[in-house]
Amino acid sequence: MDNLPDMEKFRLRNFVAGLVSRGDVSIHEEPVSLSEMSAHIEGTPAATLFRNAGPEGFEIVAGVLGSRARLAAALGVGERKIGVEIARRLAAPQPVVEVPSRSAPVHQVIKTGDKVDLAQLPFHLQHQLDGGLYISSAIDFCTDAATGKNNVGCRRLMLRDRQTLRSNLTNPSDMKRMFLDSVKRGQPLPVSFAVGSHPLDFVGACFRAPVDEFALLGAVRAAPMPMVRGVTNGVLAPADAEMIIEGHFDERGYTEMEGPYGEFWGYYGPMHIDPVFHVTALTMRNDVLHQTVLHGGRNMPRMECSHMMSAVAEVLVLKTLRDHQISPAAVYAVPSAVLFQQIRVALSGGSKEQAKTVIDALLDLPVTKQVLVFDDDVDIFSEDEVNWALSARLDVRRGIVIKENLQGFYANPFADSAGNIGKIGFDLTTTFNASPPLEVTRPTPPSLVDSNPRLGLRAALQSGPRYFYELMQQTGTDDGREVSLSLHEFFERGELDRDEHGRWMLKQRSNA
Ligand SMILES: Cc1cc2nc3c(=O)[nH]c(=O)nc-3n(C[C@H](O)[C@H](O)[C@H](O)COP(=O)(O)O)c2cc1C
Repeated sequence: MDNLPDMEKFRLRNFVAGLVSRGDVSIHEEPVSLSEMSAHIEGTPAATLFRNAGPEGFEIVAGVLGSRARLAAALGVGERKIGVEIARRLAAPQPVVEVPSRSAPVHQVIKTGDKVDLAQLPFHLQHQLDGGLYISSAIDFCTDAATGKNNVGCRRLMLRDRQTLRSNLTNPSDMKRMFLDSVKRGQPLPVSFAVGSHPLDFVGACFRAPVDEFALLGAVRAAPMPMVRGVTNGVLAPADAEMIIEGHFDERGYTEMEGPYGEFWGYYGPMHIDPVFHVTALTMRNDVLHQTVLHGGRNMPRMECSHMMSAVAEVLVLKTLRDHQISPAAVYAVPSAVLFQQIRVALSGGSKEQAKTVIDALLDLPVTKQVLVFDDDVDIFSEDEVNWALSARLDVRRGIVIKENLQGFYANPFADSAGNIGKIGFDLTTTFNASPPLEVTRPTPPSLVDSNPRLGLRAALQSGPRYFYELMQQTGTDDGREVSLSLHEFFERGELDRDEHGRWMLKQRSNA
């Protein structure tokens, strides 16, 4: 009997079943054409499950990672702890376990040779001006022939004909470098694409790390990573995925135009020249659940890469700050602000000097654009709190840092020919410590605690200058009207005074 990892625990279908039971899935039982799907997907904050899509009646899930709450659910933590939890998991390596083909759920159905027909898969038109039909949910797996490094990423797949695809290998990536090296050697690059994956595998795929990225996926899962060898290309890919597309990128290099395609910037990405991918096998589960990922649109928090990359950005920010000996109270990479473009950091007991260090360190990263630093009394996950701080905590003359000619994230619409952009930092921290002046103290509802012993009003006033609430506590009332009336009697007798904080006190007796 093989001692194998649990291959149902990270199955996409099972994760979706959990979302359904939480009422977080919009389910379409009615027939939906493939080109209608994107409008349905973008039209709801929930995930979407089509039970009867296209003429074949495909079962397709979408938007699985279209909210921070769903990503948090995948990790089993609160939404504010996503970055911290992934950073914690990455510190604990997990093994890759090779599963024999007979035990791999994704090898329940195997099609090779003439049986491979990509036109039988639910490639669909996702955005009005896309250059063709896409599967957007592919996670790619390959191994660098030169170094042996295992690499994982996400790449979109454009239908070309029944046995070939185009993919986008234009932007800087480790797979692009591996592909260029294999083209130089005159060799194809064998790659397997998993389609239908657990949300944590997408997050793991978005890291670009100098480590074994197959094992990195296991670390993000916090479990051994079950992988099965491709039947035609020998490439390891997740044994518990819904479907695998095996094959290789053509050794002739960049030969055909791919795109346009609705992109993560909230704009279309243009056509560019890309390689052809030859499909040599399709393997899948008997009851395969297809998947599509919402990629480009107007509603950025519903775009799935916004959340995947937000998690990656938070891990990167935590590491960068740790390298500067800074432990932030909270970090938030805002998903609606396009990948990495707005980073918020809350500092507890921070200084202006520390806020400056945070801004400089994070703007120096080649991916960020805006960095906002707050005191930890501001909830950086709340748009209302952030707008308040921008109004009431920002001294525009001193709190804004503008830097020019820094490396920006790729395809930034404002980048110059060297990829450089302008960046901005906001220091929204205060210079006040434990007892700020009243004028910069944030009002809160009263919170009274019982005083023991209770005092009469005169004794309470004799104990020193007191806020009104302190007089209420000391005299043992949760009403206060009788305190007002009694204070007025002291006032009428000429005994009452106030200090500069508005506290009540007895008049100082003059000894003269
Ligand atoms: C849903 C999704 C689709 C993506 N599609 C592409 C793509 O088609 N081409 C690309 O270069 N990067 C794409 N990316 C970004 C890469 O997956 C990401 O940069 C990854 O870290 C690259 O991995 P690598 O550097 O290890 O090869 C996509 C990301 C997501 C989340």
